[in-house]
Amino acid sequence: LRPQSPPSPIPAKSRSISLIEVKARGKFGAVWKATDIKELVAVKIMAPQEKQSWMTEQEIYKLPLMNHENILRFIAAERRGDVQVTEYWLITEFHELGSLHDFLKHNTVTWEQLSRIAFTIARGLAHLHEEIPSEKIECYKPAVAHRDFKSSNVLLKSDLSACIADFGLALIFKPSRSCGDTHGQVGTRRYMAPEILEGAINFSRDSFLRIDMYACGLVLWELLSRCSSHQGTVTDFKLPFEKEVGQHPTLEDIQEVVVHKKMRPVIEKSWREHSGLNVLCDTVEELWDHDAEARVSACCVMERMSIQCQSIPS
Ligand code: ADE
Repeated sequence: LRPQSPPSPIPAKSRSISLIEVKARGKFGAVWKATDIKELVAVKIMAPQEKQSWMTEQEIYKLPLMNHENILRFIAAERRGDVQVTEYWLITEFHELGSLHDFLKHNTVTWEQLSRIAFTIARGLAHLHEEIPSEKIECYKPAVAHRDFKSSNVLLKSDLSACIADFGLALIFKPSRSCGDTHGQVGTRRYMAPEILEGAINFSRDSFLRIDMYACGLVLWELLSRCSSHQGTVTDFKLPFEKEVGQHPTLEDIQEVVVHKKMRPVIEKSWREHSGLNVLCDTVEELWDHDAEARVSACCVMERMSIQCQSIPS
């Protein structure tokens, strides 16, 4: 008698995917460049302890109207692996240039490139944050806060427009539902707004959206710091607060700098000598204001950038 074979490890619906190489690694697992028969795809492979993140991320991608130019295109979510270890896969569109963080480490940007990247980041965030009532379009889209916005979670397409990725910590705001047992201190320390670091956030929708906008200010500063369209020198890429707290800050390091000393990354004088960069410098200062209510919305950043770069259709 032949021993009975174990249950098939791969569900019948699994597509045929060949993994090619690892493109990024993080706490969550790894992102692979892969092929799905006819097209290149990105596969994020997450360990069992990241199951919640995998569930949240697919829930966000499956919301109505999430098919947007500046939001990473979702393809599928699958549970894979053998009986002992389950892997959680998220399959999305693949972008050869990778993240904005990787791009800025190796490249500088012109004003034209910067303004396109900044505008499309703002357009992606504005769409994510927007609540679209069902009277307007068939399907209701709730407002969503990202909660881990940073340059490594922004991907660059080949035309240098941006799309937002990594929704594993995102929060959906449905009317008349509370945010449940959500706790406020999540995300990446370096990008945490002062109110998170102080443990002083109220759990309203607008306070979560303003936290994303603080992080957006830091990401736009990263872009400014690598722009070559001014008379000053462009220095090597550094993350926000890297000069002050290094590459692996503790929560206390960041609290000291951001809350107690109220420091922010340096905006160089030479950047302000370019009229477009000057507008962006002012916007960045509004975005990282200690007072969350003083921060401008993603929609407002988008409008300001579109005035600066009229050639990009909105
Ligand atoms: N890194 C993380 N996600 C990616 C994607 N979808 N394409 C390319 N690189 C990535």
